[in-house]
Parts: sequence; structure tokens; C-alpha cells
Amino acid sequence: MKQVIVFGSLNMDLTIRCERMPQQGETVEGNNFLSNPGGKGGNQAVAAAKFGAPTKMIACVGEDVFGKKLLEVLQGYRVDCGEVRVSETGQTGVAIITCHEGDNRIILSPGTNHELRAADVKEVLGRIVSPGDIFVTQYECEQNTVLASLEYARELGMYTIFNPAPAKIIPEKYYPFIDLLVVNQTEAKYQTGIFPQEEESCKKAIESMRRLGAKQVIITLGSRGSIFNVGETLYSVPAERVEVVDTTAAGDTFIGVLSACLAEEKEIEESVRYATKAAALTIMRYGAQQAIPYREEV
Ligand code: RIB
Repeated sequence: MKQVIVFGSLNMDLTIRCERMPQQGETVEGNNFLSNPGGKGGNQAVAAAKFGAPTKMIACVGEDVFGKKLLEVLQGYRVDCGEVRVSETGQTGVAIITCHEGDNRIILSPGTNHELRAADVKEVLGRIVSPGDIFVTQYECEQNTVLASLEYARELGMYTIFNPAPAKIIPEKYYPFIDLLVVNQTEAKYQTGIFPQEEESCKKAIESMRRLGAKQVIITLGSRGSIFNVGETLYSVPAERVEVVDTTAAGDTFIGVLSACLAEEKEIEESVRYATKAAALTIMRYGAQQAIPYREEV
């Protein structure tokens, strides 16, 4: 079976729930404080591994309590962390998350997530991948490293999935290295200037990203599901109706499960259906990696 290689961020998420968001200068009382492993890269790797894909992580943590805990938890979920660097000087990434009525606001301290350079990622990829393996990355690591890694993964014959989150522009010259671009509505607007909502605007946004060179595009639309192209044809998959507890890591679950399905050579439409169901289960639970479901549950 093909392996899933995730190059991305590892953060310790410090999450607290509150009845209402504080105004400037105000303190409000919260509840349910949780310190739990997260980071878009880590979450996507855990989603792929919990779904059964052989999964390897390329990342960097600090030599501190959070770094140790993140590695321990990832390994517990069978994510191979043999290529995760431990920095002697930097601090592990931390995300401060406030959760209110199921939705969240996140402030990120990237720390060691920004330490790896293009040459580091290239060196690892050159050693561990086979053509056809799935490469997954996001924008929480250093931008030039992320972009160069996409180019190199493509050169090695990998299938590349890019999730440009948090939203930052993708320079045009990198689009042709993307096999599958997965964006939410905000990220799509960032890349195209179009905020995709109904079918027509989604179609225009997808066409615009394909014209730039992305081979296939999925736009996730929150509670309205997702829309994607297969060649020139558009398909949509509705979201599951579930009770929302916490949306953290829902998008990451979608991408991780999608990559695991593609590693099994499932068709894209079936893969999106599995990914949608898995994301719905994540939303019904509190936290990031701990909320991501196993294959049997999906
Ligand atoms: O996508 C969710 C993730 O974003 C959280 O786990 C947090 O670490 C931030 O990176």
C-alpha cells in the first residue's frame, strides 16, 4: 500500500470553552480547559493513520514538555515520527484556542514549526518515498519550505495534496506542482478573489485555481459539504447533520482521511464521502487529535 507523508506543523493546543467571547480589556470565566495535541500537520497525519494508512510525519518540535508529549501521542496513533527533528534551541508550537458555541478562534505561536528549511525536507523525502506515495502539506510551516517541498515531492513522482491554511497566497509558479488543492471558502477567496457560496461562484473559483495549474480542486463549504471537479465535471457531497461540539481539526480530519483513501486508490468521490463522514465525527467531540475517529467508527 502507498504511504502518506505529511510535512507540517505540530502544536500543543491549549483549549478553553466560554459562554461568550471577552471584549477588549475584559476577563470572562471559561470552563473545560484542555491541553491536547494538535497542529494542522499532526492532525492530518493522525486522521490518515487512524484510518489505517501507513503514515510518516516530517516536522520539528522543541526539546520541551510539549514536544515530548506530541511525539508520544502521535506514535500512540501509529504515526511514524522517525523523521521528526527535535530542536535543542526552539520552543514547540503552541495554539491558544477559545471555543464558543462550537466555533473557535485560534492564536498560534509557530515556534519550531518554522525551523525546517527546504534542504531538510528534500533530504528526508529523497530517502523515504516511492513514486505514487501521497504527500500532504499546509501553510503552518515556513512558506518557502512548504512550496519547495511541493515541487520536490512532485519531481519524485508523489501525488501532492496542498491545504493552504492558514490562508496565504500560493505564488503562480507553484500551482503546477499541486495534484489536489483543498481549500475552505476563505482560502479560496484568498487565492481567487471569489468567495465561493452557491454553485456558480464555486465553479468560477475552481476554474480559476485550475487555470493556474492545480489539477483538481476541492472547496469545503462547512455545514454545506464540499464541491470538487473531476476533469470538467463538478460534483458535490453534502455534509452530515450532526450536533456541533467543537469544529477544531474537522478540516484536518477531512484531508487526512481523504489522503488515506487515495493511498488505497479509492476514487475521489468515494474518498470525499469517507472524509466528510470522518469530519462530522470530529465535530461531535471536543479537542483536536483526540476527537479524530478511527476507521471502524467512520
Ligand atoms: O486546524 C486545527 C489546528 O489549527 C489546531 O489543532 C491548532 O493547532 C491550529 O494549528
